Amino acid sequence: MKDLKVLINEKELMERVNELANQIEKDYLDEEIILICILKGAVYFTTDLSKRINNNKVVLDFMKVSSYGSATETSGKVDFQLDLSEDIKGRNVIIVEDILDSGVTLHYLINILSKRNPKSIKICTLLDKPERRRKQVKVDYVGFEIKDKFVVGYGMDYNEHYRNLPYIGYFE
Ligand code: IMP
Ligand code: MG
Repeated sequence: MKDLKVLINEKELMERVNELANQIEKDYLDEEIILICILKGAVYFTTDLSKRINNNKVVLDFMKVSSYGSATETSGKVDFQLDLSEDIKGRNVIIVEDILDSGVTLHYLINILSKRNPKSIKICTLLDKPERRRKQVKVDYVGFEIKDKFVVGYGMDYNEHYRNLPYIGYFE
């Protein structure tokens, strides 16, 4: 690995997370929202986002899937590791992801969660790498569109390391 460079600093991240939270707040008003955090990558984003949504009916839930064969390339197969604790039938759901890359993970998640008949289902991703798309996925909230670079930090890892960086970095 070469040098770690800053792609999005902490201030830029927090400003954008705040904007996304305001948008979500307006879109749902005082309706209940279940934020589904996709572990582990989306954990920092989900907690920061949730704190900025001024709505007393925000519910947090977690799911764990992994789609990575190697450290930086999707295998195209999704491995389902942890399910929700909430029953989402008839409720508003927002899937919160760290990064939309090939689209394999979110395509799979939308598929299984829609079958549980939520009232509504939306996707909120912090980062979007459109160049790498293999499965088309409709996203409702996007933090930043980025180039095809492998990024780490603010929840995202390289072999489980770097998740705790307060900013998003990339290797050069
Ligand atoms: P997809 O199924 O290819 O869209 O991949 C989505 C998942 O791959 C994300 O939730 C991340 O966990 C992981 N991922 C994709 N790109 C990166 C990256 O640049 N850095 C770290 N993890 C990544
Ligand atoms: Mg992830």
